[in-house]
Amino acid sequence: MSETLERWGSKRAFILAVTGAAVGLGNIWRFPYVAGENGGAAFLLIYVAFVLLLGLPVMMAEILIGRAGRRGPMQSLGALAAEAGASSHWRWLGLFGAFTVFCILSFYSVVSGWSIEFLVASVNGNFDGASAAEIGAGFESFLASPGLLIFNHSLFLFMTMTVVAAGVAKGLERLNNLLMPLLYGLLLLLAGYAATTDGFGTALSWLFLPSFGDVTTSVVLHAMGHAFFTLAVGACALMAYGAYMPDDQSLPKAAFAVAVLDISVALLAGIAIFSVVFAQGLDPADGPGLMFVTLPIAFSELPWGSLWLSVFFLLLLLATWTSAINLAEPMVATLQGLGWRRSVSTLAVALSVWLIGLLSAFSFSTMAEFRPLFGRNVFELVSSIPPDIFLPMGGLLIAIFAAWVMPQVRVKSALGVGERGYLLWRTIIRWVSIPLTFIVLLGGLL
Ligand code: PFF
Repeated sequence: MSETLERWGSKRAFILAVTGAAVGLGNIWRFPYVAGENGGAAFLLIYVAFVLLLGLPVMMAEILIGRAGRRGPMQSLGALAAEAGASSHWRWLGLFGAFTVFCILSFYSVVSGWSIEFLVASVNGNFDGASAAEIGAGFESFLASPGLLIFNHSLFLFMTMTVVAAGVAKGLERLNNLLMPLLYGLLLLLAGYAATTDGFGTALSWLFLPSFGDVTTSVVLHAMGHAFFTLAVGACALMAYGAYMPDDQSLPKAAFAVAVLDISVALLAGIAIFSVVFAQGLDPADGPGLMFVTLPIAFSELPWGSLWLSVFFLLLLLATWTSAINLAEPMVATLQGLGWRRSVSTLAVALSVWLIGLLSAFSFSTMAEFRPLFGRNVFELVSSIPPDIFLPMGGLLIAIFAAWVMPQVRVKSALGVGERGYLLWRTIIRWVSIPLTFIVLLGGLL
């Protein structure tokens, strides 16, 4: 089997790269608002359970397929299916993944653009002394200016695709080595600051003392979708990274380290955000605007508010950048696998994501009432269906492929663990992850 030549420079580089993919808007923007809308602690508990029982085993499955195939997702799946004597149609799963990340990146880039705008605004001190009403109105008028949204979306996509064009080993490795420790340090600082506000106690009990009264099927479906989204699992994106994994690394250890880092970032962000929300008497169920509206309101009334806010938006931007790079990689790798040059593949992906992203950018103004499906506009569709439905579907198929279709000797060697570790993984994925994902998806769809 011909192998790709690129490799991550070290075990740590691989863990940092996967953490960079996992930690992003999902932890800092999406987790707080989805938890806010779904009741807090009970959602948190179900989501953590899903991360451990579904996300983690499926993440291992996804990465091991890439590692065993050592090519772009479609090519790895096709080659491994052929080796197992299974249908070559399995390779379309790679294309489904590319389609999923395509949809996700189109809105992800637009929302990441908001943090560029907010970073600049907070550095300029625009929120200093502004009233809650002024900040709310400012956000509304920002959303209603497609020109501004498109400018920031373009800038963010340009930043992302430049790193992708340079290739993983060179571009990403250098970036992740610097960003991840910085990000974690900044978050600890913010959480420490949150502990000094009066909202801290309420935030802790709201996040950690569950009441199961309001748990519905939809809460469970959202928790599952979010578990996949936050770990970047289910779209073959980590499969693309697995192809560059060093030969002597234990996959379960790396995956476990990533999951712990990922959950702890969400918790730190949640503690920081909700402490401020409760200190200011704001509403946790404020929706996608939660972070962008409530934090400037809250911070504007605090000493050194603009400084804290700038730190926060810088952190968000760095985190989303490394995730967006991971979102773009499987599409570029797929095109490259079809024989395209890396530069041409990158350009083609950048242009098409940019174009479709315009629909999300316009969803807050001119196209707000264009509701092609389920009464939702384009932004509402791409920010809910691909994360909550496509990722679990992709994850389910990835799990079935690794647990039942692939030759199990290949699975075992790509996992990089002994017999007992392999059997534990196989038992969990076959008898817990696959049936549970199927049941929750079915329940959610019905
Ligand atoms: N995990 C990223 C986040 O939490 O922001 C989002 C993401 C990246 C989802 C890559 C899916 C993916 F393939």
